[in-house]
Amino acid sequence: MGFYSRHIAPWLVDCACGTKPIAYQRRKIVPRAEGVVLEIGAGGGRNFALYDPAKVTKLIALEPDPEMVKRGKARTPQGLAIDWIERGAEEAGVEPGSVDTLLTTFTLCTIPDAIGALSALRGVLKPGGKLLFCEHGLAPDADVQKWQRRIEPVWKPLAGGCHLTRDVGRMLADAGWRTGQIETMYLPGTPRFAGYNTWGDAVPA
Ligand SMILES: C[S@@+](CC[C@H](N)C(=O)[O-])C[C@H]1O[C@@H](n2cnc3c(N)ncnc32)[C@H](O)[C@@H]1O
Repeated sequence: MGFYSRHIAPWLVDCACGTKPIAYQRRKIVPRAEGVVLEIGAGGGRNFALYDPAKVTKLIALEPDPEMVKRGKARTPQGLAIDWIERGAEEAGVEPGSVDTLLTTFTLCTIPDAIGALSALRGVLKPGGKLLFCEHGLAPDADVQKWQRRIEPVWKPLAGGCHLTRDVGRMLADAGWRTGQIETMYLPGTPRFAGYNTWGDAVPA
């Protein structure tokens, strides 16, 4: 891991995750989390202040990048106890059947084996538990897709491993999740190649 990946990329990615349109989207999803929550790839903790303390009994933040963990710890709001697991989702090691809400925002683009991780994480949910997601990915328009495919090879190493061409709905289905409510749009004020957003909820199929 070079200097860029260790220090610059996490800073850049965390800044990119802090835009107004992304903050707006987070508010549609994060306050819906309840009970024991496992946030996948919690990053710099940009969701932490949006959890409803009256609904969340415990937050487990899964994050493999030590620089992101540092940022996340610095953003912990008063009164929110967070258990950190400083590993990737593929090796989370969370007790089966112990989580009410799995939450992922802008992370499925980056997990190397996102389908494998999503598939394995089904087992950590309690009966009746759900996955909440808000992710960017493959756009439906051919001209945007063309640019996503062109830009991705350059973008990925610069943006901490972020893919532009992952189809969010398809990934969830391939990993054994049944989506319920699902919404999509291009985020305003965001380049379309990185701004096609899909959000909603899912349960194990
Ligand atoms: C674009 S950032 C998003 C961070 C945060 N979820 C947010 O909404 O601001 C992607 C995050 O995924 C994390 N990540 C990378 N590989 C991962 C893995 N295997 N499992 C879980 N998270 C991972 C990165 O370290 C980074 O913090």
